[in-house]
Amino acid sequence: MDYIKAKKLLEKYGQQHLLRYYGELSDGERAELLSAISEIDFSILSCAAADGKKGVGKLSPADAMPLEETAERFKEFYDAGINAIKRGKVAAVLLAGGQGTRLGIDAPKGTFNIGIERELSIFACQMANLLQVAESAGEYPYLFVMTSTVNDGRTREFFKQNGYFGYRSDRIHFYVQRTAPAVSRDGKILLEEKYKPVLTPNGNGGWYTSLKNSPCGKILERAGIEWLNVYGVDNVLQKICDPVFIGATLLSGLPCSGKVVRKVSPEERVGVLCKENGLPAIVEYYELGEEYKSLKDNSGGLVYCYGVILNYLFNVAQLDKISQKPLPYHFAEKKVSYIEDGVKVTPESPNAYKLETLTVDLIKLMGGCLGFEVERRKEFAPVKNMTGTDSVDTARALLIENGVKL
Ligand code: UTP
Repeated sequence: MDYIKAKKLLEKYGQQHLLRYYGELSDGERAELLSAISEIDFSILSCAAADGKKGVGKLSPADAMPLEETAERFKEFYDAGINAIKRGKVAAVLLAGGQGTRLGIDAPKGTFNIGIERELSIFACQMANLLQVAESAGEYPYLFVMTSTVNDGRTREFFKQNGYFGYRSDRIHFYVQRTAPAVSRDGKILLEEKYKPVLTPNGNGGWYTSLKNSPCGKILERAGIEWLNVYGVDNVLQKICDPVFIGATLLSGLPCSGKVVRKVSPEERVGVLCKENGLPAIVEYYELGEEYKSLKDNSGGLVYCYGVILNYLFNVAQLDKISQKPLPYHFAEKKVSYIEDGVKVTPESPNAYKLETLTVDLIKLMGGCLGFEVERRKEFAPVKNMTGTDSVDTARALLIENGVKL
């Protein structure tokens, strides 16, 4: 793309400021800027603005399979799940493309050392759980790791340096998610350098499309994988390819399922499983209205009580049917460094929006979802912040409680 074309395109979308420093740039920087502009999908800016105005539909509470039922049917579920793993029908997908801005480390979040007296990365914690399942099943489920352009190299390197955590390396494959521009509060794309727009990972919602469009898509087809267990990097108690969860889902006949825990308070920052316009859906904490958040039943418990922990099982055939449907964009408020009047500004608090699609929005499209309750102290230790709520400190305490040596 040349300067004239870029200028015209930017004028159309009100983003001419991206060329503000063009006169000061070297030839190489100019080429880099024009190439970046040519790769941005500007149409998502207006789509996102429209999506943002739509809001949430009519909500009603959703049921989940309670812990008691799982305990009663444990063997039935376990046998069905382990059998599916043995037959190679299940693979895992690790969503590791996020930037972990709240944790604030300059490395992929999974590489963070959660150990105290020994090195124990978040990746290592999670891989130990997956390895245990593989050993019990006598079959190593494929693991597809989604990274972003920001952390791909360092993530691959870390797995390699750590000998793939004892897992079969030919069963671990990486793929890179797409990016989207970050915008200021008035909708202007930010520059991180005079020649470089801020492009950040576009949320975890595109994990399946990105997987299918990468070489991993072929592996998925060739191996005849029917179910994908998708999980987030930031829960160090994450049980991956849990046979009981898989078995319960298969026997339910539903096309997807999600692990849920009982929320500890109305304000807890987790998405909530509910029904939206009559269909199973997950509403993010910042989009759940006060009238729902704090609603209590007769015994004083929260009506919208099931929080999701980013551990889902998706049927691949159903994903193929819905993968052409666009997911809405959300504006996620984040701290983003940017150039202003030629100088780099590093904000202290969130100043910008990243445009993200979310996995939770896939649930509505799947046409049925089993909520599967798990014990939160055994399966949910989120690492979002360095200290305080959902932090390194709280996660360490829960790991110790579960017998993990730190
Ligand atoms: P979060 O919503 O916590 O976002 O991600 P984040 O970017 O990692 O962290 P903050 O908000 O900046 O502190 C939940 C999960 O989704 C993945 C993350 O890696 C994490 O496992 N994710 C998030 C992606 O894979 N891609 C993204 O674009 C965003």
